[in-house]
Amino acid sequence: MDIEPSFFETNPQAGAVGQPLDRVDGRAKVTGQAKYSAEYNQLPGLTHAVLKTSDVAKGRITGFDTSAALKQPGVLAILTHQNLPKLAKTPNDADGKKAIGAPMGFLPLTTDQIHYAGQPVAVVVADTLERAQHAAALLKVQYAAEKPLASYEDPKAELFDPEAVQDGKTKGHTVRGNPKAAFAAAPVQLTHKYDHAINHHNPMEPGATTAHWEAADRLTIYESTQGVSRTQKSVSTMLGLSAEQVRVVTKYLGGGFGCKGSAWPHTILTVQAARAVGRPVKLSLTRPQMFTSMGHREDQTQTLRLGATKDGKLTALIHEKTSTTSPWDNYAEPNSKIINLLYECPNFEASYQLARANVMTSTFMRAPGEAPGSFALECSMDDLAYELGIDPLEIRLRNYAEKDPSTGQAWSSKSLKQCYARGAELFGWSKRNPKAGATRDGRLLVGWGMATASYPVHNSQGTARARLYADGHAVVQAGATDLGTGTYTVMTQVAADALGLPVDKVRFELGDTKLPTAPNSGGSVAAGTVSSSVYMAVQDVWQKLIKAAVLDKKSPLYRAKPADVEVKQGRLQLKADPKKGEEFGALMKRAEIGDVEGNGQGRYGSGYEDAQAAANADPSKKDEAAHHSMHSFGAHFCEVKVDPELGTVRVTRWVSVHGAGRILNAKTARSQIIGGSIFGIGCALMESTFRDPNYSRYTNASLADYHIPVNADIPDMTVEFVEEHDPYINAMGVKGIGEISMVGVAAAVANAVFHATGKRVRSLPITPNKIL
Ligand code: MOS
Repeated sequence: MDIEPSFFETNPQAGAVGQPLDRVDGRAKVTGQAKYSAEYNQLPGLTHAVLKTSDVAKGRITGFDTSAALKQPGVLAILTHQNLPKLAKTPNDADGKKAIGAPMGFLPLTTDQIHYAGQPVAVVVADTLERAQHAAALLKVQYAAEKPLASYEDPKAELFDPEAVQDGKTKGHTVRGNPKAAFAAAPVQLTHKYDHAINHHNPMEPGATTAHWEAADRLTIYESTQGVSRTQKSVSTMLGLSAEQVRVVTKYLGGGFGCKGSAWPHTILTVQAARAVGRPVKLSLTRPQMFTSMGHREDQTQTLRLGATKDGKLTALIHEKTSTTSPWDNYAEPNSKIINLLYECPNFEASYQLARANVMTSTFMRAPGEAPGSFALECSMDDLAYELGIDPLEIRLRNYAEKDPSTGQAWSSKSLKQCYARGAELFGWSKRNPKAGATRDGRLLVGWGMATASYPVHNSQGTARARLYADGHAVVQAGATDLGTGTYTVMTQVAADALGLPVDKVRFELGDTKLPTAPNSGGSVAAGTVSSSVYMAVQDVWQKLIKAAVLDKKSPLYRAKPADVEVKQGRLQLKADPKKGEEFGALMKRAEIGDVEGNGQGRYGSGYEDAQAAANADPSKKDEAAHHSMHSFGAHFCEVKVDPELGTVRVTRWVSVHGAGRILNAKTARSQIIGGSIFGIGCALMESTFRDPNYSRYTNASLADYHIPVNADIPDMTVEFVEEHDPYINAMGVKGIGEISMVGVAAAVANAVFHATGKRVRSLPITPNKIL
């Protein structure tokens, strides 16, 4: 199918899109009708699994005593590395991790080796949850423990360059220009180190799997995942089944933030347990297990060297990152990408080092790379502003990047100047006292800080199906997932407008591998990819109805050329003579067409741009049309009040303004930005998982001890979007807002703390002890 003109051209005054429609799944959620993955309790003979995990972080299992556990009533199986049913492929195999798309190159219960505390060593299955828990408590495991490494900070840890290890070269280092010489020659030189605590995602709904073997070669998994298709691929590959033999269903999710972006070990272990007992098995991770089962944001240190002229223009940025990884993977979130493109700077270099420790592999967590990278860059920009006596907003404008410095490409769209201006206006930035530590409210110190946000538009594509019925309702489907942020709602709006129907005549279905394949809800791609897939599927419906009309002797459009017919608000009409035409319902009823099904593929990011350039552009203009740099941009403004005696920080005002293309729903979008900003405030002031340096165990693996903001910690927040039309991204012009919401947030808070106190805290979270 040809690339269609964008939504903007065909629906300049779209009806539902953009409106603050209430969540279409809201009632189901608040009345308990919404079924989450651990709530399929009607499955015949459902049993319950509990993970037994290792307390030691390094060593070997020397034996199990299962006798007491197995004697308990209702206990059906205890799976260990000694009896786990064999898998066709595991991530441990040479090509396994890649083939499976696994987040970790190690699957527990495949060996007696212990690599991290919290590693599953047994799966206990019983007829009730309580019996499984009791048996797991009675199960004794003997270990030969060894002293573990806990992080890169351990003096025994060995730092290595992952690229050098992989291919003998250091091509993973990014270098532009001549950064070392430029830094050495810079009139202003800043070198600072930034520390980032370990963070855990902590979605409200923990990871959960319900596995049901309907036949020896047919499996259904109800899984708490951000991507049913990716889980299907992972599980079917491990089992040696074809994809269609494994169905994955995720109708509702209670958050994910990245930790549900890939299939972690508990999923396949539950599947294997169900196979072993011949009955459906449900496993729900406990809150403490969430700290050792689905990844985390790694402990990391960044050193940023910034060179600038006396008038505040950047001349060099040199970034180094050191972080902890697992014994078998080389994962580090890519912090330097945002540092390479946020501001105009001719010389840039980035490198990173890893150290292995006895921890599970870390993983993507909301704005992976951009969030911690922006903390370093945006604090250093603030330092530069104070160093030169230039306003922090002005220093950013002086370094405004009119094109992408990392690639030289033009931006597909960028509204950052409007975001700065509107944010400053809403916040009252011009009234800021430039001096740090000089503003008081009674005994409290008051500080104002700001930071820039940006997030890339990643490439993605997906498919959708739309079925329009003659009576004027429609069912639209895509195998997408709704993290809780509004996919059901915004896709209903997109489909309704494209079909010219009211939203209550459209049902949008998602969360099932039986539906057309959609990408993971991750990397902020879901809104853009799925909306353009839905839009394209509806265009396919119209193409089919136009064909039917021009062949129908009774249609006013009989014998018209299909290319001369357009569809407006559900009416098929001649472009040149819109009075000539008919409603789709009239056509379908007369021609006895009960329903029409359309399928569409939506592209997002440079995939769309390339295809559009190939389809529409004059070949000589192709290069100019394609290959833009695609990012959303925004700005956060923060006021804090700091108690000088207690060192406590409260965020008292907040303004975020973003330019993120078309906003599909004003209400859910605002909620996304509020949620992400609160996530960032948590990262700035509270969130930290402590890993004991001797035992490499987490000492605060609970929501009582791992602090996240509550309502009382957060003021009313002001969120706005700048109107932005981007023709290069996808048919809908949607950029996605899931992650940009937290980029720059920690820096905005840290910069406000500096303005309040004159004290620069470069270590997250900014707890009272660091302020006093
Ligand atoms: Mo997001 S960290 O890509 O789920």
